[in-house]
Amino acid sequence: MRRTDTCGGLRPTDIGKDVCLQGWVRFSRDHGGVAFIDLADRYGITQAVFDPEDLPQGIASAPIAEAMKGFTRESAVSVNGTVRKRVEGTEDARNPTGGIEVLITAAEVLNRSAAPPFELGDQKEGVLPNEDTRMKYRYLDIRRTDMIRALEFRGRFTSLARNYLESKGFLDIETPILAKSTPEGARDYIVPSRVHPGTFYALPQSPQLFKQMLMVGGVDRYYQVARCFRDEDSRKDRQPEFTQLDIEMSFIEDIKDLQELIEGMVSHIWKGLYGKDLPTPFPKIGYREAMERFGSDKPDMRYGLEFVSLTDAVKDAPYEIFKRIISAGGMVAGMRIEAAFADKVGRNNVDRYIAYAKKAGLGGLTWMRCENGKLESNITKYFTPEILETLKQRMGVEDGDLLFLIAGPWKATYEGGGVLRRKLAEDLELVPKDVFQFFWLIDCPMFETDPVSGRRNAFHHPFVLPENDLDAEYVGGACFDLCLNGNELGSGSLRIHRPEIQREVFKKLGMSDEKIESDFGFFVDALGYGAPPHGGIALGIDRFMAILLGKETIREVIAFPKNKKAASLLDGSPEKVGDDRLEELQIMTLSVEDLDIPDSDEE
Ligand code: AMO
Repeated sequence: MRRTDTCGGLRPTDIGKDVCLQGWVRFSRDHGGVAFIDLADRYGITQAVFDPEDLPQGIASAPIAEAMKGFTRESAVSVNGTVRKRVEGTEDARNPTGGIEVLITAAEVLNRSAAPPFELGDQKEGVLPNEDTRMKYRYLDIRRTDMIRALEFRGRFTSLARNYLESKGFLDIETPILAKSTPEGARDYIVPSRVHPGTFYALPQSPQLFKQMLMVGGVDRYYQVARCFRDEDSRKDRQPEFTQLDIEMSFIEDIKDLQELIEGMVSHIWKGLYGKDLPTPFPKIGYREAMERFGSDKPDMRYGLEFVSLTDAVKDAPYEIFKRIISAGGMVAGMRIEAAFADKVGRNNVDRYIAYAKKAGLGGLTWMRCENGKLESNITKYFTPEILETLKQRMGVEDGDLLFLIAGPWKATYEGGGVLRRKLAEDLELVPKDVFQFFWLIDCPMFETDPVSGRRNAFHHPFVLPENDLDAEYVGGACFDLCLNGNELGSGSLRIHRPEIQREVFKKLGMSDEKIESDFGFFVDALGYGAPPHGGIALGIDRFMAILLGKETIREVIAFPKNKKAASLLDGSPEKVGDDRLEELQIMTLSVEDLDIPDSDEE
């Protein structure tokens, strides 16, 4: 028997046709000798019926009945039959094949399935097994409609992206997986070399250096659907291995060139996926403004709850805590919760939010409520009536409104405030569904200083073109992010193409000449051979898919993801390797007992 149609393709126009369907038995039921089978494959589900009374002349029912004894759940089967109209009243309008059924005239078990560990039919929410079980049997999980649709969607997305980029002259070029470390701020996964014992390759955190060297090589326009590896803690939006749509182009002068390319590409993809026009250009917001209004460099702008700076308004209040913070260079800002929602944040909840904010790294969170035209709380006694009036006006506070005040060092406090803002928006159900709000985060600094170590780090990475003199007090970087609904989808920049500037940036990051030479000598040399002005961007495909499909985690849009502990439950990796293999690599592993770790109470 050879398949003639898929399980999603037959329609009432096919009535009378002889077909052969092959797929999996999703569900079967017996109605007094008449068997109904839901036959499923990637394309859909078709009802097949075995009715011994209704067989065409000359077809014996016994062999069919015998074969169908093996039609256990999720077994791979083949049926031949005739398409017929479903009995009036039994049509299923939700299923595209729901107007017909296939009257079985021959049946065969292609491969019997062991009893599946969980139900693969369309699940009501909350009925899915736990994620570990789904991961262990991922091949079955992928048979579920929801999973296969997510993977199809992802495939369509990359295909549309490829079409667009290729129509603009971008070349798909692969870059090495076994390479030298590329700094993107995470730990590397390293791979030992057998040929050169004691040495290691690093898996790429991104193709950054290679794509830049492709520009030196005159490739002019490059793209790659590139696998990247970062040894960092897994989260909802992070995996140890993930995929970037990685792009680089030469002879560009402005980050707008890159932004317009991406807007064009995303609009093309949008049209292809949804048949709709996406409004472009995407709005832009500066880094400082984003932090000071939304408490995030990737703010969710689908709802309000914006911060308003109050530092200057409260600086003269005899409130010691604010005074201390402001004199140390910190800030105070307020967030207003309208009366309609403030009612939901009662006294107990305020305490809960204060505790939550502390956990989010927010040192100080206080509050006031507006009652009978006056701001009230246990701290208002430290503020003059004039200052309270200024606060009211700045924040536009009205009766019944709740005011949260955050105070502390600029970055940590706004970031903590941003976490609180998101939590409040979720709790108060202010986040609209099915709204996609893209924007560009621009005007980013070149460097930032770690408040704990005092070390200067690159804000993006060290290859970003500085926008002004490197000795200036504030150095801007020609870099930007693409954000969507409170997530960073991608980041890009113009690059340094002159070796002397690249060296200077490395030095500003505290690297010695020797370190620059050993880590990046090859790359700086490459820039010295007439590297063209260039720039590029990388979009995280997993994140993009998860947001578009409304999934909680990127694990839902990856065929074989790692779990929260960076392990694959399906194949059991990572795993120990035999001593003989370690010996060949000249590697010794230390078990915890071998390590000379002082007892914690010795410290
Ligand atoms: P960046 O480090 O910002 O930039 O990465 C670009 C995008 O990749 C996605 N991403 C991840 N997705 C899932 N799991 C992870 N662990 C993970 N890490 C990053 C994010 C992110 O926005 N070379 C530069 C780009 C460039 O300048 O061209 C880079 O890699 O969506």
